[in-house]
Amino acid sequence: MRKHIPILTFVFILLLQGFICYAQKKTIDQKVDSVLKMMTLDEKIGQMNQYNGPWGATGPLTNDNNLLSQIKEGKVGSMLNVTGVKRTRELQELAMQSRLKIPLLFGQDVIHGYRTIFPIPLAEAASWDMEAIERSARIAATEASAAGIHWTFAPMVDIARDPRWGRVMEGAGEDPYLGSMIAVARVKGFQGKGFGHTDAVMACAKHFAAYGAAVGGRDYNSVDMSLRQLHEVYLPPFKAAAAAGAASFMNSFNDLNGIPATGNSYLQRDILKKEWGFKGFVVSDWGSVGEMIPHGYAKDNYEAAILAANAGSDMDMESRSYIKNLAQAVKEGKVKIAVIDEAVRRLLKKKFEMGLFDDPYRFCNEEREKQQWDNQAHLHAELDIAKRSVVLLKNEQNVLPIKRSDQTIALIGPFVKAKSDNLGFWSYDWPDDSLRVVSLWEGMQKKASKGTKLLYAKGCNIIDTSSSGFEEAVEAANKADVVIMSIGEARDMSGEAKSRSNIHLPGVQEELVKAVAATGKPIIVLISAGRPLVFNTVAEKAKAILYTWWLGTKAGDAMTDILFGDYNPSGKLPMSFPITEGQIPVYYNHFNTGRPAKDDNDRFYRSAYTDLSLYPAYPFGFGLSYTHFSYSGITLNKESIKPGETLKASITVTNIGSMEGKETVQLYIRDLVGSVVRPVKELKGFQQVTLKPGESKEIYFAITANDLRFYNDKLLYKYEPGDFKLFIGTNSRDVKEADFKLIK
Ligand code: BGC
Repeated sequence: MRKHIPILTFVFILLLQGFICYAQKKTIDQKVDSVLKMMTLDEKIGQMNQYNGPWGATGPLTNDNNLLSQIKEGKVGSMLNVTGVKRTRELQELAMQSRLKIPLLFGQDVIHGYRTIFPIPLAEAASWDMEAIERSARIAATEASAAGIHWTFAPMVDIARDPRWGRVMEGAGEDPYLGSMIAVARVKGFQGKGFGHTDAVMACAKHFAAYGAAVGGRDYNSVDMSLRQLHEVYLPPFKAAAAAGAASFMNSFNDLNGIPATGNSYLQRDILKKEWGFKGFVVSDWGSVGEMIPHGYAKDNYEAAILAANAGSDMDMESRSYIKNLAQAVKEGKVKIAVIDEAVRRLLKKKFEMGLFDDPYRFCNEEREKQQWDNQAHLHAELDIAKRSVVLLKNEQNVLPIKRSDQTIALIGPFVKAKSDNLGFWSYDWPDDSLRVVSLWEGMQKKASKGTKLLYAKGCNIIDTSSSGFEEAVEAANKADVVIMSIGEARDMSGEAKSRSNIHLPGVQEELVKAVAATGKPIIVLISAGRPLVFNTVAEKAKAILYTWWLGTKAGDAMTDILFGDYNPSGKLPMSFPITEGQIPVYYNHFNTGRPAKDDNDRFYRSAYTDLSLYPAYPFGFGLSYTHFSYSGITLNKESIKPGETLKASITVTNIGSMEGKETVQLYIRDLVGSVVRPVKELKGFQQVTLKPGESKEIYFAITANDLRFYNDKLLYKYEPGDFKLFIGTNSRDVKEADFKLIK
């Protein structure tokens, strides 16, 4: 009998915890209901209204002079672009003068850091390191929440296959599996231990949905795709974010198959709220309710408000369509009061969960704000993930890492002394950036040995066409043993409304590389950018290429550590890099044609262009290391599995180089015959392993029938028995393969 006591106690504790949770949940629901009962229709609609603050904007402003009085009248539920304890407190005080004293929510685009700027999300994705990505979001939340912010408009989880689209920088690249894992890591990071903790901010998965598939990579453009593709490629990261508990979703500017996302009830009601059981709320994108008018979907703002609310958009960001029209729409029976109540319930619930009804100023602590202003541990973490994000694309004759011996190094290019350009789009300009942000030049000064001479020549600017600095650059190169060139895109060249048809290096930077290469000196090129660029000539001329994206506050230190080999690069591309713009879209998980080519010369069997290779410049998952890894063949524990069984695939990876290094071992599968055609490869898993020189490790992957599911032509998510290929390797192209079957 005695031995049952611990079990009983355990069960009792579980029941008690369950009851407490239930009681707390019930209490919040009850509280929401009791507030709702007291609210007038205008107050309810006020909760569904979000305004931009008077201090800065991230979209076209709708001018309004009586913003402050509207807060006092309870006509505003949330503000964006209001940061800092002082300002958020000031506005919250106005909300506390409203009849029901419902606190405001302060939302902000904290996309890759707040005070400490982290690598852009696409760069972080290249780390394939979920812990590091979660940590980065955690720190962003800690700093933002200390500045009065309750809610970040992140993560952006849009799958993107088109690097002309400027917003690729905000996402995790082209793959739904990697994208889903990263979505979860970011949601967990932002929301931390959960609402109620003052360092947790609400996450917002955006832009729902398929914004990344805008025709031609042109921002805000239409999207037309099969529902199968939508479910299989574009929705998984959203689904994962919802399952991870993301507090909110933001809809998107694009129309999807003819219906703007903001007025799309298939997306917002049927899929998100019904099928996925999402309990949070949906905010529109900036002005997207009103933008249904130019889309040609709504006649006027009145109709736009009706369509958006009925479709499940709970909050109107900056269109002012709800506040002006919804009351009338309810009176005329065009929007049911139940629709309004449901939206307000969702919104109030989050305000309760965040603890704002208990204390509307709980994020307004000046002491905490000060503490987070100069958090050295955060800078240290930023440096760490910046290093993990860099991708080594080429390293001829092991020119990298640079020897520590005394020598002359010429640092050439417009990025060598760049500061804010390292921060990238969606980052803040802090007054002390010139001191905090580390340039490559500063990083190198700190690390180079005493006897090393560093020379500098800018060569040219990032964008303009003057080559007047070339001579000086060539002179510096001539005096050097080795040349490091730091080039790329300016901070605002990738981001919202930054689509580019030409994604070559801007200005005369490519010419600069050619001029310097003519000296015959070994050149190492670092490319800083917010998207995959086209840089074939540079790749030809350079001995080594490091893709450094936009690395954030400690960019220069991260680059220097990698150049000197204090960190062995381990990043892998989260997007395929095209050879040229004409190849776009190019992505690894495409379908086969009926005439798949064996190689570029296979005339009637090519599905590409006569003047272009079939293959991208660098494939998805690609990234080198200063060491080399060899892969054994794949061993499977069985040749076939039944549903419910597990296939174990193993491979031995050996470090055959002379430096310790980290490898990301990638698992792909292909379903050879399906009721609908299947991609030539699909990422299904990956593992990171750090190996010393000479060290080997056996890596295991487990696959079950559930991993083989896909959306069939009835949109059912099912596996189909048949033949499969399994690939394991260092990127999506260079893999070992094995065959297996799924049987009934
Ligand atoms: C962007 C969103 C952003 C919002 C608020 C819009 O223009 O598309 O991603 O969160 O502005 O700044």
